[in-house]
Amino acid sequence: MHSINEIELYHAPRENMLSRVAIESSAVEMTDFDSAFLCGLIKKFRPRKLLELGVASGGTTAVMLQCLSDLNLDYEFHSVDISPVLYTNNQKRTGYIADLVKETLPHVNHKLHLGHGIPYFLPKIGGGIDFVLLDTTHFMPGEVLDFIAVLPYLTNNAVVCVHDIAISQAPRLHTAHACSILFSSVTARKFMNYLPPVEVIPI
Ligand SMILES: C[S@@+](CC[C@H](N)C(=O)[O-])C[C@H]1O[C@@H](n2cnc3c(N)ncnc32)[C@H](O)[C@@H]1O
Repeated sequence: MHSINEIELYHAPRENMLSRVAIESSAVEMTDFDSAFLCGLIKKFRPRKLLELGVASGGTTAVMLQCLSDLNLDYEFHSVDISPVLYTNNQKRTGYIADLVKETLPHVNHKLHLGHGIPYFLPKIGGGIDFVLLDTTHFMPGEVLDFIAVLPYLTNNAVVCVHDIAISQAPRLHTAHACSILFSSVTARKFMNYLPPVEVIPI
């Protein structure tokens, strides 16, 4: 079953985080709309054990940490990236923005796992995961394989958020369809919000 536009967008965590830490909004790889959807999911489902795959600078990790803090949730949060250095700039450490934000928040329960794929870390992270964000390669088998690896560690009602399900429609990314294959092939209740309509001004 598809539920369209049912997730109430929650913009405040990203705004709160950016108002306290000196980073550009563009350092968060997700758009404002996408991170408001992600935070809307966290607000609705109030997870206790979260897993993020694909960290990059840690901008989205920072938004999620702010969201968990703003909602006053009692949580355990694990973020995993195969690369210890930022994939777009090897002078920076993966997750450096999350590290900055963590210093400013009370009661942080977050661990960054770098240098291996998720199967390496799962025995240590353990089961009971009730929220997953998948945002890794986008090329097959990519997120499909990540999902299969994680599945035995999920609770029955876990929420799995798949980023970039339409990225294969973008120029030069027509083979980046791991996220759309995963989203289409898994049987589950699916939530999806459409971007608000753009106002067209006649000229
Ligand atoms: C699109 S970026 C993630 C962006 C981040 N979620 C954000 O919104 O700021 C993709 C990241 O996935 C990582 N990656 C690629 N393959 C991976 C894998 N199999 N497991 C974990 N991380 C992976 C890359 O190193 C890169 O940092």
